[in-house]
Amino acid sequence: MARILDGAALAAAIKQEVAEEVGQLATRGVRPGLAVVLVGHNPASEIYVRGKVQASAELGIHSELITPPAEVTTEELHALVAQLNARDEIDGILIQLPLPPQIDSKSLLDAIEPAKDVDGFHPVNAGRLLAGRPALAPCTPAGVIEILKRSGIPIAGQHAVVVGRSDIVGKPVAILLLHENATVTICHSKTRNLGEVTRQADILVAAIGRPGFITPEMIKSGATLIDVGVNRLATREEFDRFFKGNEKREAAFAKRGSVVIGDIDPRAFDLSGAYTPVPGGVGLLTIAMLMANTVRAAKMRRGFE
Ligand code: GUN
Repeated sequence: MARILDGAALAAAIKQEVAEEVGQLATRGVRPGLAVVLVGHNPASEIYVRGKVQASAELGIHSELITPPAEVTTEELHALVAQLNARDEIDGILIQLPLPPQIDSKSLLDAIEPAKDVDGFHPVNAGRLLAGRPALAPCTPAGVIEILKRSGIPIAGQHAVVVGRSDIVGKPVAILLLHENATVTICHSKTRNLGEVTRQADILVAAIGRPGFITPEMIKSGATLIDVGVNRLATREEFDRFFKGNEKREAAFAKRGSVVIGDIDPRAFDLSGAYTPVPGGVGLLTIAMLMANTVRAAKMRRGFE
């Protein structure tokens, strides 16, 4: 039987540790602070951001939610970032993506003070990560490593295959796996004979953003499957491709008119040694790691570590 890597339990353990660190910092008169910037009304972003603000409150981290209107200009957001950079009680600045099309997202992310870049998206942090220096690492990739380590899954010497090469997940998770001494292969949409490569994976990380893209034929029996994808199936036809006859999912689809699926076809999970479910896997770690990064930023900025 494949083992389920339970994101909720792992995230709870990390949050507990972060809460303890917050308690220790309080004895030194420091309360970590996180500013979350949510532009406009993207429904998915609103849900993610709510989770970030709630987790901060649970752990004793100060948080501020700043909600500029969808028509805001790049210049106005630059002025906001400059203010947040200058405020000593703000240790972390997170600009929820995606931003509206009129905004120059890259210039904005580059304007965040690297010491406060709790998303780990700034090129200075990306460079530090690559160079093996202390850095704020992107939350989802850091969460993937925590899942593997805390579940006792060996990484050193294993063949880790990452499918997807985004700046936010694919590239940084490959670097983190390399730092843990995995043999790493990065695949993407132009990779020839993708299945031949993924079948060599002891650890397969799927971060492509396509529903159920990794099929059972593409994995090695007993492999560890880490599914970073969050995709929505909203038509009956799409639903039936993956979940026809699955009672639990049928009920969810009937109730909400859609269900969430990762980048791995759930039928592949049965062949694996261990896997992260969607929902209930990697996504929950992302927020836990954001909390950890905020506390780390608070400490680093004060020379505590
Ligand atoms: N949008 C989707 N995931 C993320 C994330 O991890 N950070 C930010 N800032 N925006 C996102």
